[in-house]
Amino acid sequence: MTASAAFHFRDMAGQNRAEQARTEREGNERARFASGPPLRQTEGRGSAVTLRGVTKAFEGGAPVIKNLDLDIPAGQFVAIVGRSGCGKSTLLRLILGLETPSAGEVTVGDGSGRSTQRIMFQEPRLLPWARVIDNVAVGLDRSGGRVQRRARASAVLDEVGLGAKAGVWPATLSGGQRQRVALARALVSRPALLALDEPLGALDALTRIDMQSMMERIWRTQGFTAILVTHDVGEAVALADRILVIEAGGIALDVPVDAARPRRRGDPHLAALEGRILDHLLGRRA
Ligand SMILES: Nc1ncnc2c1ncn2[C@@H]1O[C@H](COP(=O)(O)OP(=O)(O)OP(=O)(O)O)[C@@H](O)[C@H]1O
Ligand SMILES: [Mg+2]
Repeated sequence: MTASAAFHFRDMAGQNRAEQARTEREGNERARFASGPPLRQTEGRGSAVTLRGVTKAFEGGAPVIKNLDLDIPAGQFVAIVGRSGCGKSTLLRLILGLETPSAGEVTVGDGSGRSTQRIMFQEPRLLPWARVIDNVAVGLDRSGGRVQRRARASAVLDEVGLGAKAGVWPATLSGGQRQRVALARALVSRPALLALDEPLGALDALTRIDMQSMMERIWRTQGFTAILVTHDVGEAVALADRILVIEAGGIALDVPVDAARPRRRGDPHLAALEGRILDHLLGRRA
């Protein structure tokens, strides 16, 4: 065996051990996300959101959002559901200041504009030429040295159970892992408001449930305000403190979800609530 082949062999053995350790660690993480003890909610880090008389019409079109009033207290987990094209993403973009209202006012945080806001989409939108850790560090502002930024990114990767993937390229990850990197990138700056636009829409059912538990756990630990747009009413009911049903440019239903956390799939109270919201969306009014 040549020296380089021997080195390669040793390297591969090391890689296998690392792979095994990673698998174990990820397994432990998954178990912890799925069944971890309820965590104390951290107070005071989230931004409050207020909309007053907000209307949004795109050029030449009818208003998508009409004279909408909404108050989201700091730290609340709000889910937004509604039929395709009803204006969910537009509402999220208005809250984030990515769209300007045609009329009315949107206020986030204390109004000073200093609170950090992040958004996560259905597609992870990672940089293919940057390693996982650097993709996460992109979510930080330019302050702090490279070592500090990487240390912060590494800690958040651990939080999403991907510490062992810090040095790999995005192309080598599964779809669920890529979304976890996107979540880490969104969380690395410790945002006061996290907007999620169908973040789990492209994932298989089991990965979705894993990710939902993980998002809930991180939200409970960090205390940010979460606004989740989803087509999955079961997901809304599992995660949210409150569900908004958007219809005809306004809030058709504003439903509190008062079940204890962590919530159990199949809970009859939650199933009844899910049925009620689905009936509304499908036009089957009681
Ligand atoms: N930049 C834009 N210019 C013109 N019209 C727009 C623009 N963005 C959104 N719209 C229109 O506003 C309406 C609401 O769009 P929006 O993307 O908010 O819907 P949505 O509820 O998020 O739908 P989906 O569930 O399919 O994502 C649609 O009729 C859409 O065509
Ligand atoms: Mg949308």
